[in-house]
This record gives sequence, structure tokens and C-alpha cells, in this order.
Amino acid sequence: MTAADLQDAGASLLRAGEGTPDVGFGVYIHWPFCKAKCPYCDFNSHVRHGGVDQEDFAATLAADIATMAERTPGRHVTSIFFGGGTPSLMAPATVETVLAAVSDGWSVAGDAEVTLEANPTSVEAANFIAYRAAGVNRVSVGVQSLDDRALKFLGRQHTAAEALEAVAAARKAFERVSFDLIYARPGHTPEAWQDELNRALDLGPDHISAYQLTIEPETPFFELHRRGALVVPDDDRAADLYGLTHDLCAAAGLAAYEVSNYARPGSESRHNLLYWRYGEYAGIGPGAHSRLVEGGVRVAIDAIRSPEMWRSAVAEGRGGHCNARPLSRAECGDEMLLMGLRLAEGVSLPRLEETGGHAPAQIDIDALVDLGLLRHDRANARISATSKGRLVLNSVIAAL
Ligand SMILES: C[S@@+](CC[C@H](N)C(=O)[O-])C[C@H]1O[C@@H](n2cnc3c(N)ncnc32)[C@H](O)[C@@H]1O
Ligand code: SF4
Repeated sequence: MTAADLQDAGASLLRAGEGTPDVGFGVYIHWPFCKAKCPYCDFNSHVRHGGVDQEDFAATLAADIATMAERTPGRHVTSIFFGGGTPSLMAPATVETVLAAVSDGWSVAGDAEVTLEANPTSVEAANFIAYRAAGVNRVSVGVQSLDDRALKFLGRQHTAAEALEAVAAARKAFERVSFDLIYARPGHTPEAWQDELNRALDLGPDHISAYQLTIEPETPFFELHRRGALVVPDDDRAADLYGLTHDLCAAAGLAAYEVSNYARPGSESRHNLLYWRYGEYAGIGPGAHSRLVEGGVRVAIDAIRSPEMWRSAVAEGRGGHCNARPLSRAECGDEMLLMGLRLAEGVSLPRLEETGGHAPAQIDIDALVDLGLLRHDRANARISATSKGRLVLNSVIAAL
């Protein structure tokens, strides 16, 4: 089976669940603390050398969940995602408190996917069994690389051996295990990546996320890159590495169901699918984002980013949110396109029209199809980006 076949198999499997506006309701919980800040990372994550009062933070998250649940009555939770930051620094009791608050606030599907992002240090892996007992049923392990020199360069707090041990411990504790890798690092050759990715795939994952190293503004890597002291692979080399990633994952039975995500059919991240399929979700915790439909209007809500200011706002009954903005239909259409074209299954044109007020012009679709960047499945009224199109996704979206 080629990468394209597998991609298409993944797409048709997923298509069955799409097209229906009800793609579930997700709850995202943000744990904003890390042991150390990685020099490439611009996520809302903070190091607190004095430690974090877990009981207090758990109670604050629970209070914020209760407020959000009051705002969103009648929703049925289909997925919960603990992201960060480093959620594997949460005490298992903290995870338990949060999950109890979610169950108090909403009805939760019996088969809800409950994912926790874990960093692979031995201390954190030691908590896996306790997380499972608390109700987590899927982990995403931040392996990033299986090369110790690369891990050091990325500022990681673990070795490749520890990462392998953490994946093994995760597989003992959970039915579903994913891991993250970062490639297209400085000097990364196709031969080195092939060897590293094959070793990772030999672990038999049912899901992996493989991200190209991105130089984010206001990170230490950004400054090094600006000064020319850090050089990432050029576009041609990055495209080669991307193609290699597709082919090796396909050979291991993992379909590219999203730009950076590969899964055995049926093992896709349901929570992340909900974002890409433009579903409704509640974000809890510092800096978390929500997208809710209120009175027929989609509203974008942001939470206060500073953990301390967020905590005070929730404790004083002001709520953790700093900004709620109704989105125009045009903005919703743009967002749906931006998210949906990341997926192999693409976007339903009738749903896009219903959400955004109008569908892309046929002439623009045809032009992109002629360029080999877009696929138009007329029978199912869907558009999706080709592998070539996904390399220049921003231009495809702009053209539409
Ligand atoms: C915010 S992290 C949270 C998970 C966990 N703290 C960890 O580091 O493993 C989520 C994932 O984003 C990816 N990531 C973050 N910054 C990135 C960047 N600048 N380039 C590529 N991938 C990045 C990493 O693979 C990481 O596992
Ligand atoms: S990559 Fe993960 S561990 Fe590193 S700073 Fe970002 S959130 Fe924290």
C-alpha cells in the first residue's frame, strides 16, 4: 500500500463521521508549568522554582470548570485533553479532581477519550498507573527525538533511553499511546531521520505526531536563528524529510490523517479531530482558548495567560476569561477552511457554506485542482489538499 492509498483509506474512514455538524464537545485543560523551558517553545508554559500548590490549583481549575459548565448547559463531553505545559507534572489527585469537576458539570460519554500529555522523565512515567486509575485512557509522550545530542540541543530534560522507557511504561498502563517527534532540525539528513523514525516506528505506536522544528518569535531559538547561529533545513530539504515521514509512516500502517499526525485507522486523536472539524470546545486554565456556539453565534473565548493572574481572577469570582468575541460568518468560514484543509478528509463544501455564508468560488477550486494542490470530490462535495498542496497550505487557503 502506498502513502497515498493509506491516506485515502484514512480519509474515507473518517468521512463517515464527518458531514454531521455534531462532531462532539471537547474539554481542554491547560497545565501551564514545566520543569524547564525548551528554547524552541512558545506555548504558555512557565517554570516555578518554588513549586506549585497542587491542591489550590486543582480547586481553581474545578471552579473554572463549574463556571464554564454553567455557561454551556446540555453539552455531552466526548473528549477531554490535558495539555500544557507539562500535565505529567500534575499530581494524580489533581487529575482526579479535575475529572470529577468535568463529570459534575456536564454529562460525559462512557467512551470519552481522555488524553494527557506526558514528558518522558522517569519521575513522570512513575505516575502513569495512577493517571490510568484517575480516568486517563490515552497518553501522548513528548519523545521529540531518539538521539541524545538532538535532545540536548532541544533543551530536553530526558535522554533517548528514558524516552524509550517512558513509552514502554505508557504501553503497560494505557490502551492508547501516541508520541511526538520533532524533525527538520539543523543539519538533519534524510538518512539520520529515516533511521530515527524507523526506530520510533519499531515501537509499534498506533499514533504519532511528527512536527518540523518551527522557529517561533520570542524564543531563544529565534534569536539564534536571526543571528545565523542556528540554520534549519531549506524548503527543499524540509519537503524531502516530510515526504520521507509520510512514506515510512505509511509502511508502518500509520495514515497521514492530518498535516503532522499519523494514525492506524481508528486510532486518530478524537479530541484534535474535533478542533480540525471545527467542533465546539471549552478551554480551561491559563491561556486556554474556547470556541462555543451561543445563541447561534460562534464565540471565541481566551483565558488570562498568567497563571497567577488567572488564579486570582477565578478565586475572586471574576472568571478566568479575559476576552470573548463573537465571530462573523466570514471569520468562521476562514477558520473552518484553515482547520479542515489540514485533514486528509478535507472539508465539506455544504458545511463550509452553511458556516461561512458562502463556499469558495468554483473557478478558484478548479485552478488549484489544475495546479495539483487541491482535490475536489464532487460526489461527496468535499475539497481536500493534496500532499503537494499541504506543503503550501497557507497559499492554498489564501487562494480560496
Ligand atoms: C507544548 S508541547 C506539550 C507537551 C510536553 N510539554 C512536551 O514538551 O513533551 C506539545 C508538542 O509541541 C511540539 N512543539 C512545541 N514547540 C515546537 C516547535 N517550535 N517546533 C516544532 N514542534 C514544537 C512538541 O513536539 C511538543 O511535544
Ligand atoms: S516543549 Fe513542552 S516541556 Fe518544553 S517548554 Fe514547551 S511545553 Fe514545556
